[in-house]
Order: sequence, then C-alpha cells, then structure tokens
Amino acid sequence: MNEPSEAMRERERLDPVEFIRANMRLTPVPSLPEIRLYLAHPGSGLRRLLEPDGDSDESGPEPQPPYWAYAWAGGAVLARYILERPSIVAGKRVLDLGAGSGLVGIAALKAGARAVIAAEIDRNGLAALRLNAEASEVAIQICDEDVTAGPPPAVDLVLAGDVFYAQDVGQRMVPFLDRCLADGIDVLVGDPGRAWLPRSRLSLLGEYQVPDVGGNGGGEPKPSAVFAFVAEG
Ligand SMILES: C[S@@+](CC[C@H](N)C(=O)[O-])C[C@H]1O[C@@H](n2cnc3c(N)ncnc32)[C@H](O)[C@@H]1O
Repeated sequence: MNEPSEAMRERERLDPVEFIRANMRLTPVPSLPEIRLYLAHPGSGLRRLLEPDGDSDESGPEPQPPYWAYAWAGGAVLARYILERPSIVAGKRVLDLGAGSGLVGIAALKAGARAVIAAEIDRNGLAALRLNAEASEVAIQICDEDVTAGPPPAVDLVLAGDVFYAQDVGQRMVPFLDRCLADGIDVLVGDPGRAWLPRSRLSLLGEYQVPDVGGNGGGEPKPSAVFAFVAEG
C-alpha cells in the first residue's frame, strides 16, 4: 500500500471551518448586497482544502471542485427572485437543493420561509453553509446525504440553484424533481443556461443579469433565469 502523500495528510489535518474563517472573506454577494457569504479570493488557496473523492489510485484521489466557495449565477438569480417576491416562500418549508454556499436557503429564510433544509453532499460545503447561515443569523437544517436518492422530504417548495452544471448531476436531479412534483411539491430552478439544463421541462418566470462564478469575485453580469420545473407534457 502506498504511503499517503504530504498533500493528502494536509487535507486530513485541515478543519474546513477554521480554514474558511482564516482564508476566505465574508463579503456581500455582488448581485445580492443584502447577503454576505464567505467567498473565495485570489489568496484563498482552496486547493489545500479539496477533498479526496474516494476513487483513489496510485496518483492519489482527484479533488472535488469547491463549488460552495462561490455564488453561482443560478443560485444568485433564484435568491434575487425570492427576495423580490417573498410571498413565494413566506410560511413555507423549503428544500435548497445543491445548496453550496447556502445562498438560496439564506434568501428564502430572509424572505420569510418557515424552515429551510439545505441539501449538500460536499463536506467543505457543509462547513461553508453553517458559517454563512451563522453570518446571516438564520437557522438552516442540513441534509448531508444524497437527497436525490430517496423520496422527497416534507417540504412545500424545492429551490434548485444551478444544479445542471454536469451531466451526471443533472441526470440525478430530474427524476428526483419529478418525484417532488408527484408529491405536490412546487419546484423552482435558477440557471444561466448550463449545458445540462432540461429545457423542455422548464417554464420561464423571470430573467436577470447577474455575475457568474469566475474571476475570483464574480465575472461579468450575464443573463440568468428563474423557471418553474413542470411535469412532462
Ligand atoms: C453549482 S453548485 C451551486 C450552489 C448554489 N446553489 C449556488 O447557486 O451558488 C451545485 C452544488 O450542488 C451540490 N450537489 C451535487 N449533487 C448533489 C446532490 N445529489 N445532493 C445535494 N447536493 C448536490 C454540489 O456539491 C454543489 O455544491
């Protein structure tokens, strides 16, 4: 058996909460100044924190990208939409699916949601979620298992911000969202038009210009949309 590399040993030592506090900045989200998140900056050195994905071979495991370290355009547009129309979430139980930083769930609670479950499968993302919720003084319940593998939780509304960024992820999301619809749960999707967006299943509700990930602090604003996910026609 190979000795663990120095890089692997360092990853095992790092506590994600301490790392995020020490190396990321609590900053207003460019398109949502009312929400502050721990966001990456050029000196964050996120590679030191990246998790092994379990598929280890001789060259060591591939790290998972730190999706949670950025406000993605799909989540940002969904958060903006909800904050401007609080009646969509007021008094409701909400699932923030693929929560990442927790941006969408935080917006839902600020807009008056009764409760938010944030579903996220990345260990570092869970730490970021907790810190970001604490910074916004909101209480978010965390689901750290793959929620798409089972029946929908007891919620009234699912908010899916930017979850169609990869084929395998999108392929898990669609059947889960179908089960949500079958259970009478409404589903809203925020997305800037990623490759794996199931366009035939979406009904456009609104469009905004928001910065996307990139450029360490947000790229140029680009169109991003909010959709209702609808049953197969
Ligand atoms: C592109 S990021 C978007 C994060 C956030 N919603 C936003 O808009 O800023 C997608 C997130 O979905 C998470 N994810 C992927 N598959 C998931 C699953 N089956 N259950 C929960 N989260 C998942 C990833 O770990 C990642 O943090």
